[in-house]
Amino acid sequence: METNRILCLLEQRLKKSRLKHTLGVRDMAVRLAEHWGADRDKAEKAALLHDFTKNLSAAESDELIIRYNLGIKYLGNPALAHSKTAAAVLEHEYGVSDREILNAIDCHTVGKPNMTLLEKIIYVADAAEQGRDYPGVEEIRDTAFSDIDKACINILDRTIKYVLSKGEDMDNKAIAWKTAEVIDSKKGQDIVLIDISRTSGFADYFVITHAPSDRLMKTIADEVEDQLAELGVILKRSEGRNGTGWILMDFGDIIVNVFSKEQRDRYNLEKLWGDGDITYFDGNKGIE
Ligand SMILES: [Fe+2]
Ligand SMILES: [Fe+2]
Repeated sequence: METNRILCLLEQRLKKSRLKHTLGVRDMAVRLAEHWGADRDKAEKAALLHDFTKNLSAAESDELIIRYNLGIKYLGNPALAHSKTAAAVLEHEYGVSDREILNAIDCHTVGKPNMTLLEKIIYVADAAEQGRDYPGVEEIRDTAFSDIDKACINILDRTIKYVLSKGEDMDNKAIAWKTAEVIDSKKGQDIVLIDISRTSGFADYFVITHAPSDRLMKTIADEVEDQLAELGVILKRSEGRNGTGWILMDFGDIIVNVFSKEQRDRYNLEKLWGDGDITYFDGNKGIE
């Protein structure tokens, strides 16, 4: 596949934030390939295609897992499955036949033993491209150019710690709080959390915000979906992305409502759910 065709496909398939990340991975992968003497063209293609199926729904991901027999352990977990589904779809539906590229895509999420140079490049670039921002990322970015194996180990180490800490389980309160932080980072207005666990049988938390434009509402919704998916909290249902002024996102125990100002005032969920404990989010303070 030619690069221009890949870019066209990515524009159709990926959300803006994911496309930005993908281009960041491409830039870093190309620089790493040039630095370490790997095939620049393959690094560019693998990087551009690595998250090809990242924005599929859980149902779409499951469908591919079954179609290509990728393993039942991936069912219901599109965040973990996306490297596998991307490699399978690209091979079987888009005619990508280069094994090295497909393998680099296939293992970019969790790595594997005895990775090739190209696989390491994609793995590291994915974790440390310019848009990534977490404690220690600068060091990994530098190490990638001095000792790529060490960079891989650092990333793995970080992933293992992260997974273990996830095992300690974020409760719904922490997830609702995290959701509020994500909304805040995308300039959602007057963020409110309502604990409805005692008054409702269907969820634990409502998170409510509004934004001044349709575009910003969608940006907030996309970011919440992405960030919660990283925590393993999967969007079950979403409604209202077609300009109705109310995007409702159902994550099971957490329901996120992104309104226009007008619709927020109109529906006044805070009043409707006034029996629940309301917290007015302030990024500097705790949830209580
Ligand atoms: Fe990925
Ligand atoms: Fe990625």
